[in-house]
Amino acid sequence: MTHSSLLKSTALALLLLGTQATCLAQSAEKGKEAFIKNGCWQCHGFVGQGGVTGPKLAPDPKPFEFINVFIRHTKGPMPQYSEKILSKEDLADIHAYLQSIPKGPDYKSIPLLN
Ligand code: HEC
Repeated sequence: MTHSSLLKSTALALLLLGTQATCLAQSAEKGKEAFIKNGCWQCHGFVGQGGVTGPKLAPDPKPFEFINVFIRHTKGPMPQYSEKILSKEDLADIHAYLQSIPKGPDYKSIPLLN
């Protein structure tokens, strides 16, 4: 390999890495909007804490792949969301939002509860 072709392939590899990183970039901010726009909050609560109808989703959400399969195919009480209704990108943002929700304090650190 000549010096210049090595340079070229290094540049190409860096370029590919860069594109991949932008494709996978997820935004908790956008995810919060999508969570509200798609009505997830109605059953799961605004911060995924769970509600009367839906179970808790956060903190510690299940892996993205699980959620992506679940919401496309569920036959339970939750409506299905096809990719036409909710794209994979928006769902990845929702997942990032759920991951960004902090855990509450440990009850052991609250004197009144001990
Ligand atoms: C009409 C109420 C309703 C709406 C709207 C709704 N869900 Fe649900 N969701 C449920 C119910 C009820 C369950 C539990 C049902 C089951 O396990 O079959 C559930 C289960 C889930 C689960 C599986 C939880 C687990 O731990 O197994 C995920 C993930 C989930 N919902 C995500 C979402 C997302 C993301 C949205 C918005 C795009 C959404 N849901 C909108 C009612 C809803």
